[in-house]
Amino acid sequence: MTSRRKAIQSIGLGALALSTLSTTRSEARPEMPLADDPAFWAKVRDQFMLAKDKVFFNPGTVGAMPRMVYDRMVEHLKYIGTDVADWAYKDDNKEEFISGYNNLMTIRTKVAGLINGTAAEIAMTDNVTNGMNYVSNGLNLQPGDEIITTDQEHGGGLGGWQVKEKRYGAVLKLVPIPKPMHSAQEVYDILVKAMTPKTKVLMVSHMITGSGAILPVKELCAEASRRGIFTVLDGAQTVGQIKIDVKDINCDAYLGCFHKWMGAPAGTGFMYVKADKIKDIWTTIASYRWNQHEDEGFRFTQRGTGNFPVLKGLEASIDFHNEIGADKVYARIKFLGERLRTGLRANKKVKIFSPTDESMCAGISVYNVEGRTGAQLQEAYWTQARMRPRSQGDTFGVRHCTHIFNNEAEIDRALEVVKSLS
Ligand SMILES: Cc1ncc(COP(=O)(O)O)c(C=O)c1O
Repeated sequence: MTSRRKAIQSIGLGALALSTLSTTRSEARPEMPLADDPAFWAKVRDQFMLAKDKVFFNPGTVGAMPRMVYDRMVEHLKYIGTDVADWAYKDDNKEEFISGYNNLMTIRTKVAGLINGTAAEIAMTDNVTNGMNYVSNGLNLQPGDEIITTDQEHGGGLGGWQVKEKRYGAVLKLVPIPKPMHSAQEVYDILVKAMTPKTKVLMVSHMITGSGAILPVKELCAEASRRGIFTVLDGAQTVGQIKIDVKDINCDAYLGCFHKWMGAPAGTGFMYVKADKIKDIWTTIASYRWNQHEDEGFRFTQRGTGNFPVLKGLEASIDFHNEIGADKVYARIKFLGERLRTGLRANKKVKIFSPTDESMCAGISVYNVEGRTGAQLQEAYWTQARMRPRSQGDTFGVRHCTHIFNNEAEIDRALEVVKSLS
């Protein structure tokens, strides 16, 4: 029990440290709270474990953990290693030795708070891919039923629907959308035009992985729902980057992960399905609770022995995020992303694949330098400046993510690297 108490205290200390950060500017400029206050963000940067001699620009693949996330996870691992004999094996859902049988109500409630859902609508998963497969596998579709999506989806969002097509004769339509996109209206019109009376599912990324485009999901879901289409959003790139309100968006399902922009340990995700729809989704991984509907989220969360320390790290990542505040996190990410894109736009040798409409962008910028491949650009970043954005292949250059642990000087240095190549 001693180690466990220590784990709880370590979160308190982390939170206290962040609480000491000044908030005066946020009161003065509520529209972009503290986004350009270097002193505030330098203190936030100090909460991360990232080595100071390298610059990380790839939380779109896997995030960087704040120290309190690491501490909470390791403390709990130690607690289990030391005190597993304390486990009285009660079936009261409060035991924290293995996950997969526990209803995880505390964590599900925090996740629900993050996206404005309810705990009953939240199931814990390992990642977006398995959440998406729970939805695609759990919905009944008939041969000829259409699933509409875009031609810019990630394989983890798409794969389950491809199985649905091959196995059950559903028709998966990969609707081409522009890259770069120019407006939300343009994408909306293309996707709505693709809907037919046979369309049963609309599945799109809330934010496109290979361009950072934020799609007009609220409008798309409204039109799809009006036509009786089930709406599913892939939120792999949004959680911890832009604010999510599932009630406002009014989607039927939303899949997210915490190991990218939230800085949680790898292997942490969630499935949200709207209260009046979740009861109709078949479970994919079945255990005792597979058919018990009094707590729908638990029905899917009970999926065999899992790793509790990882969930403790996840919980700490939500505490950390909330301590700073989703608005401030978004404002800073957007501020740095915009600084990068503004610099890139001034360079005539650079082609940007993120939307030309800045209101569709946040912290992901995708671009290339004339005559270069993504691999060359990635290599130049590393050899010249120990910076790590991620290659997007021969045509699309690199995906360059900006997060709260980055700063203005790093963006400006990145622009110099690009200039040296152009
Ligand atoms: C849009 C999108 N969907 C799905 C995934 C897969 O996420 P996960 O590895 O959590 O399953 C990614 C990963 O980069 C992604 O960007």
